[in-house]
Parts: sequence; C-alpha cells; structure tokens
Amino acid sequence: MKEKDMSKKSVLFVCLGNICRSPMAQTVFEKIISEKGVDDKFIVDSAGLIDYHEGNKADSRMRAHAEKRGYEITHRSRPVRKSDFDKFDYIVAMDNQNIRGLNSIATTDEHRDKILRMTDYLQKQQADYVPDPYYGGPEGFELVIDLLEDACEGLFKEINK
Ligand code: 4NP
Repeated sequence: MKEKDMSKKSVLFVCLGNICRSPMAQTVFEKIISEKGVDDKFIVDSAGLIDYHEGNKADSRMRAHAEKRGYEITHRSRPVRKSDFDKFDYIVAMDNQNIRGLNSIATTDEHRDKILRMTDYLQKQQADYVPDPYYGGPEGFELVIDLLEDACEGLFKEINK
C-alpha cells in the first residue's frame, strides 16, 4: 500500500451502488473545497457497498439533475475496499444500511470510528438519512442534492479546522 499523505485530509463518501448519492456527495464536496481554494488539502473519493455497477458512470438521472445545478459528475463506480479504512480519515455514509455494511467490513475500533453519518452535518434541513433515489422519481434526486449541499457544507466546516 502507498504511504498515506498525512498533510492531506481524506474523505470517502459511501452509498449502496456508488452511482447516485455518493458520487453526488463527492462532486458537491469537491466544488466546495475548490471554491474555498483548499482542494490541494483534501483527497476525496466515493465508493459503493455493492460492485454491481463497477466501472459505470453515475446514473444518467443523477447526472442530469446535477448538471441543472452546475455540477458535472465524472466519477466511475467502484466498491468499498478494506484498504479504504486505512487510506481515508473520514468515511461518510448516506443511510443506516450503509453504516451496517461499512461496520461489517471494518476490522478495528479505529476503522469503525471513521464511519460518519452524512445527515449529522446538516445545518439547515432535518433528515436522518439521505434517501436512495434509484427506484423513485425526479423529486428524489432533487432531495438528494438539497441534502448533500447542506450536509457537505457542514462537514467541510467541521473538518477544515
Ligand atoms: P446509490 O443508489 O446507492 O445512491 O448509488 C442505488 C443505485 C443502484 C442500486 C441501488 C441504489 N441498485 O440496487 O442497483
């Protein structure tokens, strides 16, 4: 394994398929750090708990809703790896199922302590999880972006100290 770059903070966003919520979260967070001029201080990535969509671009509906708000999602889906728990400082999950999945991959308390809940960083809105938009309509994708814009701002404030 490559040495961890201790001068950077690293954030991995995680959802189930890594084609809707977590690549959107990654893209929102990347825009925030770019606008604040601190993108060289962070490593940001996303991953999924299933490998079904591995190598695929984000869902076309998620990309279309993102584009309407000025985001371009370029990430390609990849599964969470055990080594991510060594590589990343913060592993940010979208819902309870993600948290259970991550806990089943984590092998130490240090790993488990890295698992965070995205909605704990909401500043304006209230939600306990970021709902999976995959089987729903357009409003689900809009809600995902609303929640992620709010929570990524909160997460950034918390970890950019
Ligand atoms: P995501 O959405 O976890 O936000 O990427 C999903 C994408 C695909 C599936 C489920 C959720 N799926 O079952 O294939």
